[in-house]
Amino acid sequence: MSIPTILTIKEMRQLVWRWKSDDKRVGFVPTMGALHSGHLKLVEHLSEHCEKVVVSIFVNPLQFGPNEDFSRYPRTLPDDLRLLETVKADAVFCPNSSEIYPKGFQTIVSNKELSGRLCGQFRPGHFDGVLTVVNKLFQAVSPNFAAFGKKDFQQFKMIQRMVTDFCMPIEVLGMETIREQDGLALSSRNRYLSSEQREQAPLIFAGLNDAKKAWKAGEKTTAKLTEIFQLSVSKCNEMKIQYCDIVDSENLNPLDGIIEEGIAPVMIVAVVYNDVRLIDNLELGV
Ligand code: PAF
Repeated sequence: MSIPTILTIKEMRQLVWRWKSDDKRVGFVPTMGALHSGHLKLVEHLSEHCEKVVVSIFVNPLQFGPNEDFSRYPRTLPDDLRLLETVKADAVFCPNSSEIYPKGFQTIVSNKELSGRLCGQFRPGHFDGVLTVVNKLFQAVSPNFAAFGKKDFQQFKMIQRMVTDFCMPIEVLGMETIREQDGLALSSRNRYLSSEQREQAPLIFAGLNDAKKAWKAGEKTTAKLTEIFQLSVSKCNEMKIQYCDIVDSENLNPLDGIIEEGIAPVMIVAVVYNDVRLIDNLELGV
């Protein structure tokens, strides 16, 4: 049986209302489509916590800058629906743009501290767009649980922060990054890579992994750890590091110098490879 596809907030709310009055817990995976096994793992994981799982598919214009890839972002709805059937999602919420941003829309959710850090330095307005849409999607779905991939570590932490700050009764779960055999983190944007780029792209994870090995062997200086990452990526001339930062995984506060005992650092990176921007991260102590 095919999964019900819901187009409006009103219908979405009615369905969730029926489930909840039947004592069903609702899990939610917000996505922009172009699904891969990382997304499917989120659905499977939520199925262990909840009786019903909703996946949303909405390519959110508000989180793309004017020169970013909104128009070329892969839109693969029929394939996405087929994949969601394999993991038995209970509903797919596919609103159109005017459903999410009706005429006159003017209220934005913004994080005062974290929006300008890490990816935010290079993508002004991006996180306002993410938080605003996730807030709206949460209003439509009213989930008990929501799951996000830790590949977008900053996004995951900022959504957790929003849920705490706005007292939303939602438990936000972060799932480990799913990787290809050679270490490349799964991402809808990997479709942009040419076969040559695809071959070189695992240098990013290799660099993160080398830094993690050095951390485990006792290297605690941020400059040294960053250098180790740079060395791996420098093997491919066309790859340019946009940033490589080590931050406290609790609050995303920047770490510089010798990392103190008790702090759990995460190395977060963005690499631009010709016209493709790839992000990744690794929790060094885990
Ligand atoms: O991670 C994504 O795919 C998007 O940023 C999200 C959370 C679905 C919001 O549009």
